[in-house]
Amino acid sequence: MISQAAFRDAMARLAAAVHIVTTDGEAGRAGFTASAVSSVTDDPPTLLVCMHRGSRYNDVFKINGVLCVNVLGPEQADLSAAFGRKNRDLDSCFAAAEWRRAATGAPALAFAAVVFDCRIASIAEVGTHSVFFCEIVGVATRGDPAGVVYFDRSYHQLRTTSGETPTGDAQTALASVLEALGGADLPPRLYDWLQAAAPIDELFIFQRPLGLSTPPQPLMSLGRSPRLNERARAYCEDFYQLDPINELLPRDQPGATARIVPTQIAHRAYREICYERPNFREKISLWRRRSDGFVVVSMFRKADAKPFSSRELDAIRDCGRILFPIIDKHQSLTLKHGARPRPGETVLQNIETKLAALPVSLPPRQLAVCSRTLIGMTAKGIARDLGVKTSSVVTHRRRAYERLGISTGSELARLLL
Ligand SMILES: Cc1cc2nc3c(=O)[nH]c(=O)nc-3n(C[C@H](O)[C@H](O)[C@H](O)COP(=O)(O)O)c2cc1C
Repeated sequence: MISQAAFRDAMARLAAAVHIVTTDGEAGRAGFTASAVSSVTDDPPTLLVCMHRGSRYNDVFKINGVLCVNVLGPEQADLSAAFGRKNRDLDSCFAAAEWRRAATGAPALAFAAVVFDCRIASIAEVGTHSVFFCEIVGVATRGDPAGVVYFDRSYHQLRTTSGETPTGDAQTALASVLEALGGADLPPRLYDWLQAAAPIDELFIFQRPLGLSTPPQPLMSLGRSPRLNERARAYCEDFYQLDPINELLPRDQPGATARIVPTQIAHRAYREICYERPNFREKISLWRRRSDGFVVVSMFRKADAKPFSSRELDAIRDCGRILFPIIDKHQSLTLKHGARPRPGETVLQNIETKLAALPVSLPPRQLAVCSRTLIGMTAKGIARDLGVKTSSVVTHRRRAYERLGISTGSELARLLL
């Protein structure tokens, strides 16, 4: 027999997909990171999950009898670390990503590579682990085939060439830009190349964290205007002041008469929004979703310029495919995540007013908890802010959701649209 340590070291060389296995039901919500997931048979469609018997949540899974296996996409490796930590705060782990409720009631991760919604059909106790044999009742697959594997105790991204990687000329452009990465000449080269694809006046790239209370942080600005960086900072500040929910899930806004161009797409890991406002520059934003927020590329054209043609829109879409990998790489080299979330005064008031205007009225405490949830504060943070216990925040939130007939924060956000 080999030792446990030798077994683990050897298993580290067995590349595995990374999953967040989640449950919800009468025993409550729980989730953990698992690599021990495998297909068993396709009739009936069955997979197995191995969960340590010593885990605090082992019984929660057994009592609920349902689970979702959320197979992580390449930009979700940080969730794996959060859900894999001993003594993790489950509320903050769940708050770090967007979830839907699957048919079984278990939390399904938005933008997962694939989600298997399952009922636990039988359980075998083998040594230190419970082996859950799970009958698959539903599957949701993300548009672009991309994933992450855990190998030699670190994460490795997997992407096929069909999704985000450009072809032909764009491929050459990407190669030359990547070659310049980290070099001082990256921004001008990128700008020249963009100009050739579709003339724009300015481009700001910024990071928009999921917590709506944290202002976006500029990552890069390109253009010929004087004091461009100041303008980028001011733009982020304006953006922050704008109604964040409408900005996150845009639609026509009274007064702003935003025109969402039909090319608006919410597919793959990013979406494109193109809209005009009177007295504004025409603006196109490409959004790339990550587990902790969005990276947004906003491109502007002067108010008196022609609207973007469909050919230019195509070129801009190509730019997105090229820009996001560049940003990912550039960020990992030089840029850091910024500020910690703080309660957002104006944004919070704005959301409270909207919540108060819903047809179902919420008592003040529930309203305070829901509005803070919407700006991305964790249960602990809300408890501190309101001077109450975390458990009472959770209860208020549950009661509010029951009253509103919803079960997740994203559904709450949608009610405000
Ligand atoms: C990459 C990775 C893979 C893991 N795979 C498994 C697994 O297959 N089964 C399991 O029980 N725990 C696995 N864990 C550990 C759990 O995610 C988690 O650390 C453990 O459940 C902590 O104990 P607790 O649930 O009592 O808090 C993994 C952790 C990581 C980071």
